[in-house]
Amino acid sequence: MKPLKLPGPNAKAIIERDRKVISHSYPRGYPFVMDHGEGTQVWDVDGNRFLDFAAGIAVAATGHSHPEVVKAIQTQAEQFIHISSDFYHEIWVQLGEKLNEIAPFSGPAVSFMTNSGTESVEAAIKLARYHTQRSQFIGFLGAFHGRTMGAVSFTASKPKYKGRFFPMMSGVVHVPFPDPYRPVLLRRKGEGYGEAVVRYIEEEILNRLIPADELAGFLIEPIQGEGGYIVPPPDFFPALRELCDKYGILLIADEVQSGMGRTGKWWAIENFGVEPDIITSAKGIASGMPLGAMITRKEIMSWPKGSHGNTFGGNPISCAASLATIDLIEKHYLQNVREVGEYALDALSEIMERHPSIGDVRGIGLMIGVEFVQNRETKDPAVDLRDEVVNLAFELGLLTLGCGQSVIRISPPLSTTKTEIDEGLMIFEEAIALAEKKYLNN
Ligand SMILES: Cc1ncc(COP(=O)(O)O)c(C=O)c1O
Repeated sequence: MKPLKLPGPNAKAIIERDRKVISHSYPRGYPFVMDHGEGTQVWDVDGNRFLDFAAGIAVAATGHSHPEVVKAIQTQAEQFIHISSDFYHEIWVQLGEKLNEIAPFSGPAVSFMTNSGTESVEAAIKLARYHTQRSQFIGFLGAFHGRTMGAVSFTASKPKYKGRFFPMMSGVVHVPFPDPYRPVLLRRKGEGYGEAVVRYIEEEILNRLIPADELAGFLIEPIQGEGGYIVPPPDFFPALRELCDKYGILLIADEVQSGMGRTGKWWAIENFGVEPDIITSAKGIASGMPLGAMITRKEIMSWPKGSHGNTFGGNPISCAASLATIDLIEKHYLQNVREVGEYALDALSEIMERHPSIGDVRGIGLMIGVEFVQNRETKDPAVDLRDEVVNLAFELGLLTLGCGQSVIRISPPLSTTKTEIDEGLMIFEEAIALAEKKYLNN
């Protein structure tokens, strides 16, 4: 494989113009300038083709510009583009009905539509306070919940998200996320690591720091995304649910990245056998149209008229795109994710056997993390090597994104085929081999 010379002249020119007029705060990693896409393939403005194993950070759920999503957007745009959320329209109701059908609650579910993940999280925090009349929350180290003032108070994956933005929202305490590869708490004899984390919360936080009857909720990603695609051990969520039930605390699952079929179930929390009380969604919910939702049990959505709202909530074009997306996931992609996800995990485990820089491969469905280490014994994170793999993969024709300290996330569209996994992983392995030559032999 011959690496591409990137960025090409057209990409370079656009990046120069971008620098002059677009906020420099966006965390661009490498110079990909999109021209168009189809399924899992994308092309840049110089005509170079790439496989997209990032899907716009797990957003292009049905692949790029799926014809049925495009048709739904076009049809709705011709009918009407906007009517304020002070009025009603049917496509919004239809989406609410569909979300009620697929929500991970045994009883009826009600949705508040938003425009992004962070806005879904804001809505969840506000509702939890309103409903419980309690003010305190527990979040998890390594978490990412967004960047608006409430959500960023829970985000704890990198200090730069908070630097010079203090003070944060008050009432948020962070505890360790149950990371089986890098545990930080001691287990008692016979105790699972998930149980140990929950015991720590009860013994050290509730018994010393926050009275349990002032704790409104836990905000947690069922699989930590930006923090490193970390899958908690199976004993964690049942123990956390039990703790919530004991003290009347709400369990808020942030499914912005892990939801909408990415793990082969509608919601990642369903892999752990517990019901949350509130979930937040966005990213893949409308295949890339800006839409989010905060979904909860009917009895929890107890706030009155006027207490929360927004202008664009229930945008008809986003709702139409979402209905088409959900239909495609239901009919084709849930099953595809299960099959292709398992296939990709197997293939990556084989790649791990050939490459000592890979310390761990983990994930469910098409939410897979590959963690790079300097040495499998010490598990020291191989940050430079990981960055090199991401950059080399790009030059060889594969889009990936890092997460955590030294992890690469594999989160392609849910429509990705086994053939595309083969092609992408061939590039991935070549990039790893080249990066290992540079970093492991020194
Ligand atoms: C779990 C999770 N929650 C919230 C957000 C914030 O979403 P947005 O960027 O749409 O505001 C993200 C974004 O990466 C996320 O991964």
